Amino acid sequence: MPNVLFQTFILSVFLTYFCLPVPLKATTLTSCDGPIEEAKAEKCDPLMREFTNRSIGLAFLDLKINDTRLLSMRELCKDLKTCMNSTCYYGESRKKEVRIACDGIAIRNTYFMECLNKIKTGTVDLSKYTCMDSLDKPVQMYTTKKWCTKIMFREVCGEKSLNNFDRHCRIMVRIFGLVDKAGFG
Ligand SMILES: *[C@@H]1O[C@H](CO)[C@@H](O)[C@H](O)[C@H]1NC(C)=O
Ligand SMILES: *[C@@H]1O[C@H](CO)[C@@H](O)[C@H](O)[C@H]1NC(C)=O
Ligand SMILES: *[C@@H]1O[C@H](CO)[C@@H](O)[C@H](O)[C@H]1NC(C)=O
Repeated sequence: MPNVLFQTFILSVFLTYFCLPVPLKATTLTSCDGPIEEAKAEKCDPLMREFTNRSIGLAFLDLKINDTRLLSMRELCKDLKTCMNSTCYYGESRKKEVRIACDGIAIRNTYFMECLNKIKTGTVDLSKYTCMDSLDKPVQMYTTKKWCTKIMFREVCGEKSLNNFDRHCRIMVRIFGLVDKAGFG
């Protein structure tokens, strides 16, 4: 199942999306583009930079649940969202991207992700999960083949990996959407 490897890679890659410069000028000027809102928005820049910097640092690490680095990222996400909410400078789509990225961080602190990491290592015999064999797009693991993923997770990692399973699948799908949009997909 090489696709499982790929989707974990994608999860890391999506983070680099936030290295791209934030578009500074809106196409149509509104009061939200004025100097007051711009000054408020600028205060979020260091948080955004720190988020990007730390995300990249964590992207390829296999972190355990409650790793302090994940917990502190969660706090950083909260601060970043609060900061972005303090001004109308940031459009809904930019805020949404940050929400998805932060969900991507939060999901790393779950048994769902722990299970995905376990499967990724290649130490588990997955040959009996023939329902996964026809996968040509990793996103299917969380959409049309979600039922198969569920069986696999239950048997490989136990019931706890199925906590909020549907919600976690939706988050994975959104992360793939973000990756596609960023041109990495
Ligand atoms: C993150 O920031 C630190 C210090 O500010 C720097 O040394 C490091 O290279 C940065 N890492 C990335 C991935 O940008
Ligand atoms: C992680 O921390 C939370 C909150 O302190 C705790 O309820 C949970 O049991 C911890 N989980 C693990 C696996 O350590
Ligand atoms: C930001 O605003 C949205 C509504 O626009 C709200 O749902 C969300 O909870 C707010 N987040 C923070 C961290 O303030």
